[in-house]
Parts: sequence; C-alpha cells; structure tokens
Amino acid sequence: MTQQNYKDAIKDPIFLTITEAAAELNVACYVIGGFVRDFLLKRGTPKDIDIVAVGSGIELAQKVASKLPKKPKVSVFKNFGTAMLKYGDLELEFVGARKESYHRDSRNPIVENGTLEDDQNRRDFTINAMAISLNKENYGDLIDPFNGIADLESKTIKTPLEPGITYSDDPLRMMRAIRFATQLQFKIEDNSFASILNNKERIKIISKERIVDEINKIMSSEKPSIGFALLHKSELLPFILPELSALQGIEEVEGHKHKDNFWHTLEVVDNISVHTENLWLRWAALLHDIGKAPTKKFHKKIGWTFRGHEFVGSKMVYKLFKRLRMPLNDKMKYVQKMVLMSSRPIVLSEDFVTDSAVRRLVFDAGENIEDLMTLCEADITTKNTKKQRKYQNNFKLVRQKIVEVEERDHVRNFQPPITGEQIMQTFNLKPSKEIGILKDAIKEAILEGTIPNEYDAAYNFMLQKGKELGL
Ligand code: CTP
Repeated sequence: MTQQNYKDAIKDPIFLTITEAAAELNVACYVIGGFVRDFLLKRGTPKDIDIVAVGSGIELAQKVASKLPKKPKVSVFKNFGTAMLKYGDLELEFVGARKESYHRDSRNPIVENGTLEDDQNRRDFTINAMAISLNKENYGDLIDPFNGIADLESKTIKTPLEPGITYSDDPLRMMRAIRFATQLQFKIEDNSFASILNNKERIKIISKERIVDEINKIMSSEKPSIGFALLHKSELLPFILPELSALQGIEEVEGHKHKDNFWHTLEVVDNISVHTENLWLRWAALLHDIGKAPTKKFHKKIGWTFRGHEFVGSKMVYKLFKRLRMPLNDKMKYVQKMVLMSSRPIVLSEDFVTDSAVRRLVFDAGENIEDLMTLCEADITTKNTKKQRKYQNNFKLVRQKIVEVEERDHVRNFQPPITGEQIMQTFNLKPSKEIGILKDAIKEAILEGTIPNEYDAAYNFMLQKGKELGL
C-alpha cells in the first residue's frame, strides 16, 4: 500500500480541522482503531472516528468544536478522559494517550498520560492498534508498530502484547476477539486462543450489557455459527449461554441416538441469516431448541423424546433475557412466541395439509406467520436429500395454502364477525359467561371451516348455538 492510500482515508475536511486545532494546542494527534482497520479492509469509510491526542483529548475536542460551524456540543466523560461530539453523520471520540490500560468502561479515573506508543500497546488487537497521523509534518503516515497490516492480510486476530496481559486488562476482549473473528472471518492466533481458554472465568466480571452487545454483533454477522462455535471451543459459552451448552452432545441408549442439538442449532442460525437481518428472528433461531435439554427422555419403545420442549423453551427465554439484562419487552415476547410455535408448521409439512390446520396456524401466528415459516424452513438441516426435498416442497405447499386461506378467510388479524355487544342484544343477555362461550364457538367454527368468516353465516350459527344453550 502506498502513502497516498492513507491520505485517502482522511479526505473528509473534518480531519484538517482536527489538525489545525491540534497544532494550536501544540499536541500531536492521530486517528486510530476501527476507522483505520475498516478503511484498510475496504469496509467503507466508518462514521465512528476515534482520535487519540498526546495530551488532553477533552481540550482537543473542545477546540475542534469551536472551529466547526454551528459549534456542536461536546459531551465530556471526565472520569474516562474522553470527549465526544457529533458532526453531521460522524461521531468523533477524543481520548488522551494513556500508559495504563484502555478502559472505556472503567470506573477509575485515568491517571497516567502516555505516548502514542504506550497507547497502542494497551489496545486490544494489532489490527485495532494502527494509527494514521493527523500532524502537519507527517500527515497521512501509518503508524503500525505491531505490523497490524500483515495481520489484516493474513486475517489474524492477535494481541499487541502477551495475550494474558491484554485479556486481563479487559476480559471483554475475549468476546471481542471472537466477535471480530466472526465479523471479519479471521482466525484467532493460537497463543491468543489458548489464553482465552485460560482466562475464561474472568468473563464473569464483565457486565451483561457489554456481553450482549458482542453477542448481538456475532448474531448480526453473515455466519453467526463461527462465533458460537468459538464461544463453545473457548469454553466461554457456559458462562454466557449455558442453555445452549446444554444442547451439545449425542447420547446413545440401546442403539437409539438423538441428534446433537447444539450443532443443529448453529446450522439453523446460519440458514436463517441468509434470509433475514431481523436480529430477533435470529435470536429465535438460536433459542428454538433450548427446551430440549430439560425435556429429554428415553423411552424403551419409542426412543428419545423432547415432549413439550417448545413450551418449556419459551419459558426459558424469559429467564435467559432477564439474566442477561436484555429487554423484557415486545422483542422478548416475539422470541417466546416463535420458540413456542417453532414446531407447528413442521407438523403440517410432514402430514397432509388441511385447510383448517393452516387456518389455525395463521390465526395463532397472526402477523408473525411469515417469520415463523422462515424459521421452520431454516430448521431443515437433514443431510438426507430426499427428505430435505420433501420437507421443502411441503413447506411450499403450506405457504401456498396460507395465501389461499388468508384471501378467503382473513384470520391473520382475526376480528370476530359478531361482537359481544351483538350477542348480548340478540339474546337480551347481561354480561355473562354465555357470551364468551358463543364467541368462542363462532371462532372455532370459522377456524374449523364449518362456516366462512362472514357476518350472515356467523349470525345464523350464533342463533343455532344460542338455541342449543337454551337462550
Ligand atoms: N479498544 C480496546 N479494548 C476494548 C475496546 C476497544 O483496545 N475492550 C480499542 C481498540 O483499539 C478499538 C477502539 O478502542 O479499535 C475503538 O473501540 P470500539 O469503538 O469499541 O470498536 P471498533 O474497533 O471501532 O469496532 P466496532 O465499531 O466494530 O465495534
């Protein structure tokens, strides 16, 4: 690569403003970290820009802001020695070079200022420790003391210092190593990986929120299985998602084996990631079988069963989200619903598909029917091509039926054709349990296909049912 290329990275006029501000304060400054890495990887020009100043990052941020039109607000995090400002779609973070570990979330005030080299030493990976000079005398020069460029080329995740030091400075970096390996499809260097295995228990001191951030980045990658396989191999997984670890392994009793539900799950997550960017649908794929570990039983006559695993799994989703301090809102409910319903279309795909079964499915899944079908299609991981084709064709049939049934019966966002009010008026009833019984009978008749989802048919049906109830 030529010098010119690095100047290309800092073409945005904002960098010249930073250079001028730094010159006025007489501090050296550099753009560092993810911005440099992603530029060199040709992943586009990142909007998050980290600037390191050999001096006060906060003062530099304030000086930069004062030079910009509209004088953007500077958010100062005094304890961390950092300052942030937004300019257009850019987010600039300024930090003073440190001798001590780079502790973004540390509660301790930063005490020791350092040189650029000190700062680079204390960063997580060689590919994240590269800096481009913003100083007049060497504007655009790459400062790469650990040969991060070579690691970019060989696709290697490696720590600048002895890995034990880097990981104990901030154990979250174990997750970051795995996350970058997944996002960039890089390999974690052997020493580094061995060190993660050694330090795995230290992940316990990291906040759940930071861990979940990394899991979500793994989950949003092209091939999330890379990350989950590494979490498993590094033995970090039991500290983070023990429900998934519990799915690993094959048991054999009297010649009956069940599949390894951990590796199956990873295939499902990869499959679904081809079809959706929806993070929560990917979570549903990851968790769809977690109920299988606690429900697993061996029966002499029929072999292995996982009865009710969907229900048990959906209950586990709540506990898992709570433990990881994930939102307990509609997203969690959506994942629960997907897990709970995850076998429903499969049953249909194995059997002859009746209209009423499809109507019930659409009624229960409501607006999530498409997502549920996507999940079930991703769940086909059989290596038997004949079976695979059969399931896929059956799902196609189910999808067709869903469209047909929906056009005719509109049960997707079901609104009862007869309201409770109308029932009360017709039979001159006060609020009572009979109203519920009648409403339910009408809904059931529609789902069964006894009557169409229309007012007249429902009205006549109600009269007849009312008679039967002696109303
Ligand atoms: N960093 C570090 N240790 C951490 C977190 C961050 O050394 N635990 C350093 C790295 O040099 C990293 C930079 O801080 O490049 C910025 O961190 P962050 O914004 O979290 O990550 P990026 O590398 O920018 O990557 P991404 O935006 O994909 O998260």
